[in-house]
Amino acid sequence: TQKNVAILVGSLRKDSLNRKMANALIGLAPPSLRMEIVEIGNLPLYNQDFDPDPPQPVRDFKQRVQAADAVLFITPEYNRSVPGVLKNAIDTASRPYGQSAWDGKPGAVVSVSPSKIGGFGANHHLRQSMVFLNVPMLQQPEAYIGGANELFDDKGAIKNDSTRELMQKFLQTFAQWIDQNGKK
Ligand code: FNR
Repeated sequence: TQKNVAILVGSLRKDSLNRKMANALIGLAPPSLRMEIVEIGNLPLYNQDFDPDPPQPVRDFKQRVQAADAVLFITPEYNRSVPGVLKNAIDTASRPYGQSAWDGKPGAVVSVSPSKIGGFGANHHLRQSMVFLNVPMLQQPEAYIGGANELFDDKGAIKNDSTRELMQKFLQTFAQWIDQNGKK
């Protein structure tokens, strides 16, 4: 059966390379995955005072995460870590305590950077939070995508054959990962 994957993009920038990657992956997805970007730019900064009565954008966001079978993070690296906007979204859907929307949902991360290191620091800082949140994260293949300012053509397709093949393999393996680790 088809699985719904919520994509969270860790950049709010209009011409974001990470958003380009998200759209490219939607195009490369195997038939078993239905992938959709869930926007995080309208979320307020998390405040624990919200917990008893969260604002509507928080409710809507949490509901969309909860409805998904799996989550795919596509993120830049900011100062060797996860951008605040993405951490904010993760924290938002993790609360109130005991009512996390992430719990048990299979996940994966793709980090995208113009630099050669490919967002390794962000990729692994994100994994640290997701371990705590009980999200089984795909381990292999890893996706540290460097040189990303040269990666996309005018239509947003991945120009480089080896990167496109890696991402196809990544998505196929993620689909199996969801079947093996997701709620039945
Ligand atoms: C960056 N960038 C960056 N790149 C990197 O590889 N490692 C890093 O630690 C950082 N740190 C960083 C901090 C801040 C505040 C900004 C704005 C940028 C550069 C970053 O990878 C580049 O701007 C990407 O293009 C951002 O991704 P999007 O917006 O294109 O998706």
